Amino acid sequence: MTLRLGDTAPDFEAQTTEGELHFHEWAGESWIVLFSHPKNFTPVCTTELGAVAKLKPEFDRRNVKVIGLSVDAVDDHHRWAQDIQETQGAALNFPLIADHDRRVADLYGMVHPNASDTLTVRSVFVIDPQKKLRLTLTYPASTGRNFAEILRAIDSLQLTNAHSVATPSDWQHGEDVIIVPSLSDEEAKRRFPDGWRALKPYLRVTRQPGS
Ligand code: BEZ
Repeated sequence: MTLRLGDTAPDFEAQTTEGELHFHEWAGESWIVLFSHPKNFTPVCTTELGAVAKLKPEFDRRNVKVIGLSVDAVDDHHRWAQDIQETQGAALNFPLIADHDRRVADLYGMVHPNASDTLTVRSVFVIDPQKKLRLTLTYPASTGRNFAEILRAIDSLQLTNAHSVATPSDWQHGEDVIIVPSLSDEEAKRRFPDGWRALKPYLRVTRQPGS
């Protein structure tokens, strides 16, 4: 199944390190980051899970729940969690789906057969509180992900949800933003009373709302 931005994130039930979970019910009113790992007891995945555990307060601050997935059994996940704590200095503090039958991986298209028949790729799905898919990333098994970039992208998504703005290349929270082209100058005057700089008629830069 090919999932596209704007699609409803498929619902599922799964075993996790924090017990049985019904995905949509568990998600509730939160944003979600669902991310997959090729396999348990692999080096890059171990560092990634430690990195996300350390960043958990940053996800919490943004009303984002994180959930990992690996196509192994839950007992293996618990044993692996000990290694993560030992080597990364952070305990697993979010659920890890035990997708040993690849049900969820197949539902979300996390197995790319031309890359590997058995391993999932490093997928990331950012899902909004309406359960709509808002961002996807696909990395190969050998490249660990940059979770600071995922937080940055969530800041952008949440800002553009609240205001008619887009964020430029390499934007960081607090920096200037772009007024979306679909907003007329008349409407922009109402929404951005402090004004903007028009570098071109289609490139209107303004202060980040709320900053
Ligand atoms: C890793 O997580 O370290 C990994 C997994 C599969 C292939 C290569 C690296």
